[in-house]
Amino acid sequence: MKLFLDTANVDQVAEIASWGILDGVTTNPSLVAKEGKDSSSNSLQAFKETVLKMCELVPCVSAQVTETEFEGMKKQADEYSSWHKHVVVKVPMTVEGLKTISYCKGKGIKTNCTLVFSANQALLAAKAGATIISPFIGRLDDAGQDGMGLIAEIMTIWDNYDFDTEVLVASTRNPRHIVEAGEVGAHICTIPYGLFIKLPKHQLTDIGLKKFQDDWNKVKS
Ligand code: E4P
Repeated sequence: MKLFLDTANVDQVAEIASWGILDGVTTNPSLVAKEGKDSSSNSLQAFKETVLKMCELVPCVSAQVTETEFEGMKKQADEYSSWHKHVVVKVPMTVEGLKTISYCKGKGIKTNCTLVFSANQALLAAKAGATIISPFIGRLDDAGQDGMGLIAEIMTIWDNYDFDTEVLVASTRNPRHIVEAGEVGAHICTIPYGLFIKLPKHQLTDIGLKKFQDDWNKVKS
């Protein structure tokens, strides 16, 4: 399973990439706004610089279009994809988004269909030619629905057909989400920084390491 970092912060990408296990990054307009990059008059340039820095660190960086009509999304897809070969254009799951995904497929532009909340949306995005689809499991859980159940449903459909589209588990909230995504065979998980840094930790690892060091110090003295 590929692991992506869900952030618009380049320092966080550099830190997790240094572990040698990071396969990509997902950004979205809210994450960009959190980093304060959308307030300047030159926000597109700032966003481009951020994306380019990330592209030097990982092989797959999702950059989301902000237009909502086909013509606008198409232009943004052409522009973002011209920045770097590691850019994947993130497109929302709407009818206009499907048209954009289909256009990108025809031009060899990689896409990540975002804001997927149902198996039918997943199916349509795959048929349009999305490289990746992103079902948001945490937001479904927040709404009292079964986020991981949706991933399992989508993986069952994928088992029946020959889609190249990778299923990315988005909106992850806790370490069990990553384990369960692996259990149902999802291709990718995107993980926020605060959750990512918890993954290597275990209390028994810390206790065990301390004991090894204490015992070794006794041998040395
Ligand atoms: C995925 O690409 C999205 O950026 C992200 O996972 C959304 O997560 P959230 O629901 O925590 O905002």
